[in-house]
Amino acid sequence: MITVQDVTWVRIAAPDLDLMETFLEDFGMLRAARTATRLYMRGRGGEPFVHVTELGDPRPIGFGLRAGSALDLAALARKFNTSVQPRTEPGGGDEVVIQDPDGNRIEVVCGLAGSNQASSRAPFKFNPAADRARPGGTIRVKTAPSQVQRLGHVMLRTAQFDVLRAFYTGMFGMRISDNYYMGTADNTIASFLHCGLKQQLVDHHTIAIVGDGHTGFEHIAFEVLDLDDLMSGNRHLMAQNRWKHSWGVGRHIEGSQIFDYWRDPFGNKIEHWTDGDLVNDEYVAGNVEFNPMQCLAQWGPPPTADFMGQNSPPQESR
Ligand SMILES: [Fe+2]
Repeated sequence: MITVQDVTWVRIAAPDLDLMETFLEDFGMLRAARTATRLYMRGRGGEPFVHVTELGDPRPIGFGLRAGSALDLAALARKFNTSVQPRTEPGGGDEVVIQDPDGNRIEVVCGLAGSNQASSRAPFKFNPAADRARPGGTIRVKTAPSQVQRLGHVMLRTAQFDVLRAFYTGMFGMRISDNYYMGTADNTIASFLHCGLKQQLVDHHTIAIVGDGHTGFEHIAFEVLDLDDLMSGNRHLMAQNRWKHSWGVGRHIEGSQIFDYWRDPFGNKIEHWTDGDLVNDEYVAGNVEFNPMQCLAQWGPPPTADFMGQNSPPQESR
């Protein structure tokens, strides 16, 4: 089994790098590098970049997965009858590039050099009634872009749900955290997958898959510093008066994240989140009936038409 530890970056195409950079700065990323045809944006979590835009017609391209080890990468190369190649983008390292059954480009990488050029503020401590943690301290939140830390997960749309899920569980040992079903309990329409690393605690989902008959990214999701940072970013994005809010702020159920969804200027749904669940392979998978008014959030406003895809731009069909 080839293991992966995390998702590193997303790669999409868009026709205006300046506009994308302006949005992503407001969203809370920092420029890592830029060429005539590529924009690399990073967070503050040490990755060389977390989001890359290639100049072109808007479309999702793919994402990076961090291999469990160099041995995993070599095993993947053998499996696909290819070779491990040195990377030429920021952070260097090695990669094996493959495609999943939907044609999403997957760059499986290891040996990336980190980036430590920007620090984050210290997390605020809360004073809950039964556990005062901020004696004598204050909280002062500025309205400013969120401090994006890292890419947390990618949710994929697909017209071949079983095939795509079997690829991620079979090829990379990803494990089901929770499912949504419609009608009967065996009619699974979406799965949240975590990296299967035995006892090691990982995000509740690194890849999620929804069988909605389309192809591409349903959304991409970036972890921010904490709740105040998420709200600060929400206020900042709202204040620009030019970016489209999709849904939030609320708290999800599967994964428990506090979320806030936006649209980038090219219609891609992009999430800020914080305070997600950590699971390992002992987590007992749940199976929940999909009712969007009940299963998507435990608090927050009801899901919007935009979030549910009723106003979203056409997605690429492969
Ligand atoms: Fe998400």
